[in-house]
Amino acid sequence: MATVFSGVQPSGDFHLGNYLGAFRNWVAAQGDNEAYFCVVDLHALTLDIDPEELRRRTIDSAVILLAVGLDPEVVTLFVQSHVAEHTRLAWLLECTATMGELSRMTQYKEKAARGEMVRVGLFTYPALMAADILLYQVDEVPVGDDQRQHLELTRDVAIRFNNRYGPTFTVPRATVPKLGARVMDLQHPERKMSKSVDSPMGTVGILDDPGEVQRKVMRAVTDAETTVAYDPERKPGVSNLLELLAVATGVGVEQAAGTYRGYGQLKRDVADAVVALLSPIRERALELGSDLGEVERILSVGAARAREAAAPTYAAAARAIGLTSP
Ligand code: TRP
Repeated sequence: MATVFSGVQPSGDFHLGNYLGAFRNWVAAQGDNEAYFCVVDLHALTLDIDPEELRRRTIDSAVILLAVGLDPEVVTLFVQSHVAEHTRLAWLLECTATMGELSRMTQYKEKAARGEMVRVGLFTYPALMAADILLYQVDEVPVGDDQRQHLELTRDVAIRFNNRYGPTFTVPRATVPKLGARVMDLQHPERKMSKSVDSPMGTVGILDDPGEVQRKVMRAVTDAETTVAYDPERKPGVSNLLELLAVATGVGVEQAAGTYRGYGQLKRDVADAVVALLSPIRERALELGSDLGEVERILSVGAARAREAAAPTYAAAARAIGLTSP
């Protein structure tokens, strides 16, 4: 059994791209692996966020992860700040990584370019992420392309620590999702569906009600032609719809393309397929949302289990680097 770890920022209002690109794979992987999934609330502090909002989003994120099908009996689902070893190990790793390495991180450079006041935590973010992973002696980290560079850094830091202080961490590798799906914005099909750009009509929320899903898919941008064909370069809108249909129903894109003569019917089928995919998730989320005590209980069991795995790794790292214990 491989040990798998992944983390997600507590944005709370996840979209179809998060589900098809990430969460669905987490659910698929849960039985065959020792899996840890973490809502990384500490990472959310690197940009300005209202405290009430952070609290709400953290719990909402857990609700969605449970609603999409993560089974808390099988995986360890927890909140990053509930396990103190994350910040403790992050310091040791900040003292292992270099300014040069962290300065090269493109996510830092992009985010730093957007705000005039850059927090130190935004810069050291990848050291905390490395701690998240290395604490659990992880083999595999399923992440999207945007996180590959952070994972490379995690590997470099783990190798350097092991060489300097003795074997302490498993060196993890990034895995490409088996059910890889790149879901594009319905209004701007040349770019990924993303929470960081404001495109309410282009983004299908996991918890959107069926009417909203229908409306957004029916208004999706296509092109001035009429033939349904899969050609992401030339026909990004139509190709995105075909891809959505393919992932939602399991048929291939080319095969799906062959069965349509117009955009209207394609959109209707995509809308129905997405509604069918999301409806059970939405129902389960509404149920969980009415019993947040139960969600909190699940998270506290998760934190206890995570702590049990993280504590020995932290202790070994602290000992290796020369810290004494009381
Ligand atoms: N940085 C990741 C993101 O923004 C979230 C994250 C934090 C993460 N810690 C992690 C992902 C550990 C994988 C493993 O998406």
